[in-house]
Amino acid sequence: MKPIPNAYIEAMLAYTPGEQPQGEGWIKLNTNENPYPPSPAVTAALVGAVSGDGAPLRLYPSPDSRRFREAVSALHGVPLDYVLAGNGSDDVLNLLIRAYAGPGRPVGMLNPSYSLYPVLAAAQNAPVVRVEIQSDLTFAVDAVTSSGASIFFITNPNAPLGINFARKMIAQVAANFPGLLVVDEAYAAFAPEDCVELVRSHANVVITRTLSKAHALAGMRVGYVLARPEVIALLDRVRDSYNLDRLAQAAGVAALNDVSWLQETVGKVKHSRERLTQSLLGMGWSVVPSATNFVLATPVRPGSPPAMSTSEHAFEFLRSKKILVRRFPSHPLTASALRITVGTDVEVDAFLDAAKEWTAGRG
Ligand SMILES: Cc1ncc(COP(=O)(O)O)c(C=O)c1O
Repeated sequence: MKPIPNAYIEAMLAYTPGEQPQGEGWIKLNTNENPYPPSPAVTAALVGAVSGDGAPLRLYPSPDSRRFREAVSALHGVPLDYVLAGNGSDDVLNLLIRAYAGPGRPVGMLNPSYSLYPVLAAAQNAPVVRVEIQSDLTFAVDAVTSSGASIFFITNPNAPLGINFARKMIAQVAANFPGLLVVDEAYAAFAPEDCVELVRSHANVVITRTLSKAHALAGMRVGYVLARPEVIALLDRVRDSYNLDRLAQAAGVAALNDVSWLQETVGKVKHSRERLTQSLLGMGWSVVPSATNFVLATPVRPGSPPAMSTSEHAFEFLRSKKILVRRFPSHPLTASALRITVGTDVEVDAFLDAAKEWTAGRG
């Protein structure tokens, strides 16, 4: 007898993460990691957390990541019961979908946006409704508020486009949407404003954050959610009992507390983002204004119109130089573009040299 799995699990496809190349010498501008090492306070905290001989690792960590949540609560000026910690923000996105979506209870999202949401929805047998981002890079507020979704995700700033939707517009959605509105703020540290204050003013707004980008901790897996206590209490029921390990909690506290490191690093990334943007514009590429740590740019060679095949050609040329960027061929707004993570100055220079070479018709 053959065991029968859930048909909806059998039918779903797993999330495809960006390539993590093996071997040396790659310039990795494909998964929006921070090009700089984390705050030195993080390394010190990690060493402290194992106290030399590793003895603390015998013991389970704080089940509710208490100290980390206290640091989040202090940072945003919200009560402790407004905060839940996640093993990366992907963990909290999953908890939100488990708690609020299911068969007949759709997950809503802007399209394009983060391609993990439909995967998490499929795992709960929940339908997905998509609201398209228009060619002028806006979306219709009404289309979201009347989408019928039980939970709607607005990635803000948007990935993979990089644009930021104004808080006023998000507030308008929140005021008219009957379901739970999640603002995924993975890239908010690089943006001119965020939506944290909407959690205080609107009972249906939830913010998710990650330490993977601005805090340079993608390898640690630390994220969190800010929401009203009644939402947090639901998520608390479905999360793993010890969803953050000792090291992740220690690293998370140290990273949040080192505000000056964050300001300096975000400043450097924003500076390089501007240089990258201006250089690509100067080469004749088109570039979407970015509020994130990446840039969506359409490669153009003189004489050839922007096309998907052009972006594929540029992608392969860069790859041949061991420079990895990312393509999103399945949406018309992104099909002819490349998403380029902002790297160090050296990485940006190497990318720009290769991009210039390709634009000049070599390769
Ligand atoms: C929009 C968005 N949300 C969430 C995440 C996931 O973050 P984490 O590493 O905390 O799981 C990403 C990562 O690329 C992202 O782009």
